[in-house]
Amino acid sequence: MGHFFGQLAATTQFYLYGKRYCTARGWQRAAAKYDAKALDALDLSGCVYMVTGANSGIGFCLSNFLAARGATCYLVCRNEERAKLASESIMRETGSTKVRTIIADCGLRSGVLKAIEELSARESRLDCLVCNAGALLGERTVTAEGHELLPHPPCLATPSPLAGATRALR
Ligand SMILES: NC(=O)c1ccc[n+]([C@@H]2O[C@H](COP(=O)([O-])OP(=O)(O)OC[C@H]3O[C@@H](n4cnc5c(N)ncnc54)[C@H](OP(=O)(O)O)[C@@H]3O)[C@@H](O)[C@H]2O)c1
Repeated sequence: MGHFFGQLAATTQFYLYGKRYCTARGWQRAAAKYDAKALDALDLSGCVYMVTGANSGIGFCLSNFLAARGATCYLVCRNEERAKLASESIMRETGSTKVRTIIADCGLRSGVLKAIEELSARESRLDCLVCNAGALLGERTVTAEGHELLPHPPCLATPSPLAGATRALR
């Protein structure tokens, strides 16, 4: 009986949340309250960001946004050529000279450690790490290190290296 009421409460909450925030009217209400200009005024000079999977998609757009607002932005990419193209494109578009690349495969523990080591050697602070790298996999894939690759690779290798990164970088 308790289970039934628990289910009912969860489903009702889900329905009410969806009706309030996820319908067309919910979106219009939220959009009306959103102050897009506040983001334009953001000054990130002196801040250091690291974005994984930054050579395309959301990671690329976010890196562009951060660089345009003065941040030092590290693009962590697994392919050197794609990393170079992305960083050049961002610097050209934003006028920033503070876009750097780190070549590392975030699906490998060794890759995550390499990224952290390179960052630690070049910076004494890290304001934000964006674990964005990921891909939708059609079939079970095992890395060269013998771990199953998850749709969001950083999940594979993060806990201890990231704990190390936050200790090393403030
Ligand atoms: N877009 C959506 O609707 C959506 C929805 C839910 C979740 N997400 C998640 O949001 C993140 C970004 O999505 P997106 O649409 O921008 O994807 P995307 O366009 O496919 O970009 C993914 C980026 O991650 C990089 N990447 C993948 N595996 C990597 C690895 N092992 N090491 C380093 N870089 C790696 C890719 O680099 P390469 O060029 O080398 O492949 C690419 O630059 C992903 O984690 C995705 O799973 C997206």
